[in-house]
Amino acid sequence: MTADPRDPAAIQLSTVEQWAAAHLDPTWYAYFAGGAAAERTLRGNVTGFDRFELRPRVLAEFEAATAATRVLGHELSMPVLTAPMAFMRMAHPDGDEGIARAVAATGAGMLLSTLSPSTPAEVAAAAPTATRWLQLYVLRDRGLSDDLVAEALEAGFSAIVLTADLPVIGSRGRELASGWAIPEDELPALVRARRAGATERGFDLLDPTVSWGEVDRLASQFGVPVVVKGILRADDAVLAADHGAAGIVVSNHGGRQLDGAPPAIAALPAIAEAAGDRVEVLLDGGVRHGSDVVTALGLGARAVLVGRQVLWGLAVGGEPGARRVLELLGSEIAVALRLLGCASPAEVGRDRVNPRD
Ligand code: FNR
Repeated sequence: MTADPRDPAAIQLSTVEQWAAAHLDPTWYAYFAGGAAAERTLRGNVTGFDRFELRPRVLAEFEAATAATRVLGHELSMPVLTAPMAFMRMAHPDGDEGIARAVAATGAGMLLSTLSPSTPAEVAAAAPTATRWLQLYVLRDRGLSDDLVAEALEAGFSAIVLTADLPVIGSRGRELASGWAIPEDELPALVRARRAGATERGFDLLDPTVSWGEVDRLASQFGVPVVVKGILRADDAVLAADHGAAGIVVSNHGGRQLDGAPPAIAALPAIAEAAGDRVEVLLDGGVRHGSDVVTALGLGARAVLVGRQVLWGLAVGGEPGARRVLELLGSEIAVALRLLGCASPAEVGRDRVNPRD
């Protein structure tokens, strides 16, 4: 008997994308799965993990490993937060609220996209105990931008993650070929809120001229940690620290922006070394299994963001599907840690990962 793709309990990390693809409207699958141009960076994010191998220590004399860790002062059950993704409700009506509940149930964390159709207050109401950070695209209208931040902080969001790698939308051929467009009835909440007289649909609201000064301003004005997402160079990591960021996300936006950018995991080691202890380093792009997470830890990340893998779980099974993906990731991380001979994420040192010849 073949498993029913809609049964969340039957989801496996190796096959969840295929199930989601079979399930989703092809246009939306193109939007969710696609990358920029020739999709080299999109593919490289996943295959980039092949460049590294893990080096286990045996007979480590402890019972079981825990995946639990601390990220920007938050206790998480595993070094995983869900990546911010616009329009998740088109994958399943449970949307961002479903992700928030899945995150609360598993003890991971989540980032809410600026372009989400749900407001921060709605997401907070769905999962008051979840660790929630706001992903910020700085808006041309700084008043509106700051209102969104204030609304999120009011709703208990505890960090601002400024996405720095989208001064213009990447050339996303698969998405364009599919005819994808923002549906009229699925506008971002912040656009809905100012519908009267607004001509912008979403991306037009974003300010392409944002500078490092904005990181200073946000860090000094709002009193919560600011994280810069989209760092691919050591010198930019140092600048982020110089401008008051508490964290960075090494990321190429899931291969959706600059095709030809390096796989995130390949960019990580030099960036983590340059950052030292000045900022907490996170990574996203291509994380599909627990062993990927552990590889990132060994190369200097404190935690990872997981985008599409959680989205596929949501598409297949709504909130329980997303929860199942997070549970599988958490248990795979604990198994990989134990097999590496590390009792916790903090014990995964640089000696545990080697570049493959
Ligand atoms: C994204 N990403 C993204 N990033 C961001 O800062 N704000 C956003 O609104 C979105 N929207 C978005 C939509 C979709 C459908 C995808 C797939 C991605 C990028 C995302 O946060 C993250 O960087 C990557 O998705 C990580 O790569 P993986 O895990 O999908 O391989």
